[in-house]
Amino acid sequence: MLEVKDLHARIGDKEILRGINLTIKDGETHAIMGPNGSGKSTLSAVLVGNPLYEVTGGEAVFNGKDLLDMAPEDRAHEGLFLSFQYPVEIPGVSMTNFMRAAINEKRKYEGKEPLSAGDFIKLSREKRKIVELDSKLANRSVNEGFSGGEKKRNEIFQMAMLEPKLSILDETDSGLDVDAMRIVADGVNKLRTPETSCIVITHYDRLLDMIKPDVVHVLYNGRIVKTAGPELAREIQERGYDWIKAEVED
Ligand SMILES: Nc1ncnc2c1ncn2[C@@H]1O[C@H](COP(=O)(O)OP(=O)(O)OP(=O)(O)O)[C@@H](O)[C@H]1O
Ligand SMILES: [Mg+2]
Repeated sequence: MLEVKDLHARIGDKEILRGINLTIKDGETHAIMGPNGSGKSTLSAVLVGNPLYEVTGGEAVFNGKDLLDMAPEDRAHEGLFLSFQYPVEIPGVSMTNFMRAAINEKRKYEGKEPLSAGDFIKLSREKRKIVELDSKLANRSVNEGFSGGEKKRNEIFQMAMLEPKLSILDETDSGLDVDAMRIVADGVNKLRTPETSCIVITHYDRLLDMIKPDVVHVLYNGRIVKTAGPELAREIQERGYDWIKAEVED
């Protein structure tokens, strides 16, 4: 699915990613944890092609294609999806129109006909159920005035609609109440298939109890410094990061 080798990236003259190595196989869910400012959101931004960041070395291959060479929209069309830590509001653009345009862009890229209005409504209804998203939100502008929890749920709805091959969820749990976290986690679990993969960025093992990752990584200072099974999340919750930092600095 994804193979990242020695990836370096900077913003201005500040190097943030300092040699990331990461291999994700089809069907796997990986969690990325790590202290604030370690580069987790930067890694996801670089993978989806945010132009703010300059890649200064390394490679990223996504299903056999050179990801770093692709335009951001083509990365999305190829099946890469990022759910943002801070979802943006798009005033004046209704959720329905936004989603319909996104889906039809992707279909065009795949050489398919656009979805009819009827089929689009049917698909939306089906996918909305997965995250128990209120149908009223669909008529409003994208994320405008949505509560934090509604925004996050809406992002999982968008993910369900687009059926990405690799989804990156950046702190989808922050600001969610327990019930909403359960709904979001269930949504993510329902969308899992043997052909799709997921990267979950989180600070808490609570979400990882619900979305069971195959692998947990710790990102620190722009590098993945530890990789283990799901038990690592629990250990971090109990012990913090100091012991890992100490191991790195040894
Ligand atoms: N647009 C930017 N301009 C300047 N510095 C930036 C920018 N984006 C990220 N950085 C810096 O890069 C470092 C990594 O930030 P990043 O957002 O990737 O961390 P993070 O691991 O996602 O942290 P958090 O857990 O707080 O979300 C930080 O020191 C941050 O200040
Ligand atoms: Mg972040």
